Amino acid sequence: MVNSINFLLLFSLLVFAPFCHCKKKVGGYLYPQFYDDSCPKVEEIVKSIVAKAVTKEPRMAASLLRLHFHDCFVKGCDASVLLDSSGTIISEKRSNPNRNSARGFEVIDEIKSALEKECPHTVSCADILTLAARDSTVLTGGPSWGVPLGRRDSLGASISGSNNNIPAPNNTFQTILTKFKLKGLNIVDLVALSGSHTIGDSRCTSFRQRLYNQTGNGKSDFTLDQNYAAQLRTQCPRSGGDQNLFVLDFVTPVKFDNYYFQNLLANKGLLSSDEILLTKNQVSAALVKKYAESNDLFFEQFAKSMVRLGNITPLTGSRGEIRKHCRKINT
Ligand code: HEM
Ligand SMILES: *[C@@H]1O[C@H](CO)[C@@H](O)[C@H](O)[C@H]1NC(C)=O
Ligand SMILES: *[C@@H]1O[C@H](CO)[C@@H](O)[C@H](O)[C@H]1NC(C)=O
Repeated sequence: MVNSINFLLLFSLLVFAPFCHCKKKVGGYLYPQFYDDSCPKVEEIVKSIVAKAVTKEPRMAASLLRLHFHDCFVKGCDASVLLDSSGTIISEKRSNPNRNSARGFEVIDEIKSALEKECPHTVSCADILTLAARDSTVLTGGPSWGVPLGRRDSLGASISGSNNNIPAPNNTFQTILTKFKLKGLNIVDLVALSGSHTIGDSRCTSFRQRLYNQTGNGKSDFTLDQNYAAQLRTQCPRSGGDQNLFVLDFVTPVKFDNYYFQNLLANKGLLSSDEILLTKNQVSAALVKKYAESNDLFFEQFAKSMVRLGNITPLTGSRGEIRKHCRKINT
């Protein structure tokens, strides 16, 4: 009797499980309608504040897009990047990739405070970051996509995770690919998401090595166009000027398009991590060429890969919390 009940249970699981869509939506437990009842205006509010900030300063779109990436690669997309230091929390804002570099926190604060007025204690900071990344892409001319929602916010930060998981601009191709794979992303995601460098800026310190001493032999990176390198050296000296800013895509610096990939083909990628997508691996090189040829194919894959980025180990259900202020955990 017990056996036959067990058998029936097992049988129905095997037969019906493949048809159960309960939890297998795009984004696992996350879904775009998450706030439809609890905060129907969430998307409108996020978009209006991002739009205002980007109008005021076009670079803000890039900064917000990058913030989502730096959030998701550390403990998952849980807004850990937004926490300030306090008590036992050491802020990720102090890590190598973020120090003097990550920005946009005031815009996230403004969105959070508007949402706390509209629907108190409902929308997570992690979801705000994800929506702001999508809106930043659209506002600069990139593709749009439905954003799976329902993330919750972390109760802590990880400065070691921020230092170790986020790729550095002088990492080898293999190291960067490994860091993506550790987050469940593949080589297609790596190339498509690197296309984010079609907007935004980099500091001199992030690529200086390429201009003067790429491999330790006192020579510049031979995969960098020599005229472009000479031009960059005038504003990025051997020493000093660490914080001087350079556009990542010199053709259309504030427009989201596929010039990033076309630049790579012309040996005019700014970061070493950009150019090696073309020079160190045949699979990624083929993808660079494909996206350089077709803006549509780039946009289509970028949208898909952004959803995959946003799905990295979110906190859902009763895990984590909905922060009242994005910079600190609730007391
Ligand atoms: C593939 C490995 C990656 C590396 C090594 C890398 C590295 C960097 C570096 C060094 C900068 C300049 C930072 C500075 O000097 O202040 C930068 C900027 C930027 N990155 Fe990446 N990145 C990578 C992937 C990504 C991804 C996946 C995204 C988004 C999905 C992204 C979005 C951006 C944006 C938009 C900027 C400009 C930010 C601004 O102007 O404020 N990056 N990245
Ligand atoms: C990469 O850059 C960091 C920081 O500037 C430097 O300490 C390190 O030696 C560089 N690594 C390589 C392999 O060049
Ligand atoms: C280049 O880097 C190597 C190794 O870091 C160092 O020994 C050498 O002095 C540097 N050369 C120049 C010209 O800066």
